[in-house]
Amino acid sequence: MTPTEAEGHAGGAALADDALARWRWLIARREAAIAAIRARTGDRGDYWTARAGTHGRLLRASAAAPNPVLDLLRGEPAIVAGGTLLDVGAGAGRFAIPLARIVREVTAVEPSAALRALLREDVAAAGLSNLRIVEATWEGAEVAPAEVVLCANVLTPIADAGPFLRKLDARATRAVYVVLRAAPMDAPIADLWSAVHGAPYPRETTHADAYAALDALGIAAQVRIVPQPGSIWRFDQPEDAARLVRDRLWLGPAGQDPRADALVDDFLATALERDGDGWRIPAPLSRTAIISWEKA
Ligand SMILES: C[S@@+](CC[C@H](N)C(=O)[O-])C[C@H]1O[C@@H](n2cnc3c(N)ncnc32)[C@H](O)[C@@H]1O
Repeated sequence: MTPTEAEGHAGGAALADDALARWRWLIARREAAIAAIRARTGDRGDYWTARAGTHGRLLRASAAAPNPVLDLLRGEPAIVAGGTLLDVGAGAGRFAIPLARIVREVTAVEPSAALRALLREDVAAAGLSNLRIVEATWEGAEVAPAEVVLCANVLTPIADAGPFLRKLDARATRAVYVVLRAAPMDAPIADLWSAVHGAPYPRETTHADAYAALDALGIAAQVRIVPQPGSIWRFDQPEDAARLVRDRLWLGPAGQDPRADALVDDFLATALERDGDGWRIPAPLSRTAIISWEKA
C-alpha cells in the first residue's frame, strides 16, 4: 500500500466510523460543488433573502395545508398548555405560530431578516402576544432553556452538527424534536444535475446521517417517519417548474449558459406532466422524519 493509498484508507475509515466527520464531509462536498457553480454563474446573494419570495409560500403557516408533522407534535405529551417552546430556525412560523396557540410561550430563533419579516406579519395577523422573536443563528443565540426545543428543516446544511445538536439538547428541559426530510429532495433532478454540472449530484445530509450523528454524541433518539403531502414538484404553471428546477440546480436566470438552458428545456419537455389543473415532475413520495428524545 502506498502512503497515498494508506491516507485514503485512513480517511475512508474516519468517514465510515465517525458519523460527525461523515456529516462534515457530506456538507463540505456539497458546499464546494455549489460554491463552484455560484462562482461560475456570478450568484452572490443571500440564499433565504433570494428565496423568501419564491419559497415563502411553502414556509408560512397555513391552516388549510395538511401538516402531519404538526399533527404529530400537537399530540405529544411534552407539548402542553402552560409549557414553553423554543423554535430554532422558525422561518416564517409554520410551526411556531400554530404551536403558540397551544403552549404558554414560544421563542422563535431566526437569523434571516427576510423570513423574520414574514413571521412578524403572520404573528400580528394571528393576534399572538406570546411569541418572541430572537434575531440570531442558533450557534450565536443566547436564550434561556425551554421545556421543548424544536428544530424543523434547519439541520441539513449545518456543517458543525455536533455543537449545534448538543446545544439543542442542553436548552431543553423536557424533550427535543429535530425534523428533517427522509427522502432526498432533489431525486427527480439528480441525473440532470450531473448532465448540467458535469459531476455527480452531491447529496444532502439525511435523517439517517442525523440519527448516526446523535448516536455518536451519546443521544439515544427515536425516529418516526410521516408522509409529507404536497410536493415541491407540483406546479400551477410550467414556468414555475422551470424556475424551481433552475433554482435547485443553482442556475442563474436563463440566457447565461445556453448549454445548461438547453438541458433544462429538454428535461422539462420530457419530464413535465399534466396533474389535474396543474403540472408535475414525477417524484418519489415525500417523507419527513421526526427525530426526538426526552430529557432524563
Ligand atoms: C427550510 S427553513 C425551515 C423553517 C421552519 N422551521 C419550517 O420548517 O417551516 C430553514 C430555516 O433555518 C434558518 N437557519 C439557517 N441557518 C440557521 C442557523 N444556523 N441557526 C438557526 N436558524 C437557521 C433559515 O433562516 C430558515 O428560516
